[in-house]
Amino acid sequence: MADSNKIFTAAAGSNIAFIKYWGRRDDALNLPANSSISMTLDSAVSTRTSVAFSRKLDRDRLYINGEEEQLDGSANEKTVFMKRILDHVRSVAKAKEHVLIVSENSFPSSAGMASSASGAAALVTALDAALGMGMDERGKSILTRQISGSACRSVQGGFVKWNRGVEKDGADSYAVQVADERHWPELMDIIAVVDASKKRVSSSEGHSSTPKTSPLYAARPAFAERGVGVVEKALVARDFQTLAEAIMRDSNNMHATMLDTWKPIMYLNDKSREIMYAVEDLNSRKRGYVAAYTFDAGPNAHLITTREHRKEVLGAIDAVSGISRVIESGVGAGPELLGEAEALIDAAGLGPKRPPRKA
Ligand code: PMV
Repeated sequence: MADSNKIFTAAAGSNIAFIKYWGRRDDALNLPANSSISMTLDSAVSTRTSVAFSRKLDRDRLYINGEEEQLDGSANEKTVFMKRILDHVRSVAKAKEHVLIVSENSFPSSAGMASSASGAAALVTALDAALGMGMDERGKSILTRQISGSACRSVQGGFVKWNRGVEKDGADSYAVQVADERHWPELMDIIAVVDASKKRVSSSEGHSSTPKTSPLYAARPAFAERGVGVVEKALVARDFQTLAEAIMRDSNNMHATMLDTWKPIMYLNDKSREIMYAVEDLNSRKRGYVAAYTFDAGPNAHLITTREHRKEVLGAIDAVSGISRVIESGVGAGPELLGEAEALIDAAGLGPKRPPRKA
């Protein structure tokens, strides 16, 4: 029975891929063409999500950063997948009640950073607790993957590999931990926000159109698969030189296939390229890699470095004008269940009013 008038809250960090997922082999199930590997981010780039199932709700309701969003994909296409997951968990848990979801990011929506990875991982963790499903890590990862592919890596902390899998139903396409957050705590991600506006082409469209239309893409899955092997070894050995080069080459390779897509997908802008040169110059001055740039489906730069070189990296991008915000994240732990609280539905004013309980 899902209706307990209780709220379950979970927090999860986003992740930054060192070897990227771009291109699907199955659109409906979010199955990737290649494996990928990432670092989970800490509370600086995280989402806290509360869920409550209640008979008092007449429909599912979703609030992100205080704004109600419809679960029909009208504002955010990932909400369609979210709705599908809600119906799925309700049917597995034999629950009939509607759910209230309240999600808050640790970074402002105006930062222009994707919150789908942390949001999906926090949601699945909270749903699992609310419905008493007792899902294992694999189950959570598979469910999260169906909301947003890259999100399946956020159900674990530290360094995480998403194996592409070969099964048609995706049963073997989920994330596993390569090393936990204590393995290399000096590693960090300095995020330089250069543009906060909504992207022209969604990642979902790109995952589908790039493999179909880019001649260059044919070489991408094997290149990325090799990269995962290189990065995994470099992480285990804490070999920053090998890691940094593999990260930069993979980002460039992915963005090359994006530009080669018809119609072209261009996420990087002049500021992104200026930051790439600033990192290149810094690495030349230091006669070795002290930082690596990487870009997801947007122009904001993720600069992977170690704490020892933090100041130099900040100094190197200081000269780049137009950086609106810098966010720093260390290696994050996996999702955390933050507990339960009573009577959210009434507190949110969404159900019929009851007299306040006597103390
Ligand atoms: O999971 P999606 O659909 O948001 O795809 C994002 C893919 C990249 O961020 C560009 C790469 C990655 O592996 O995170």
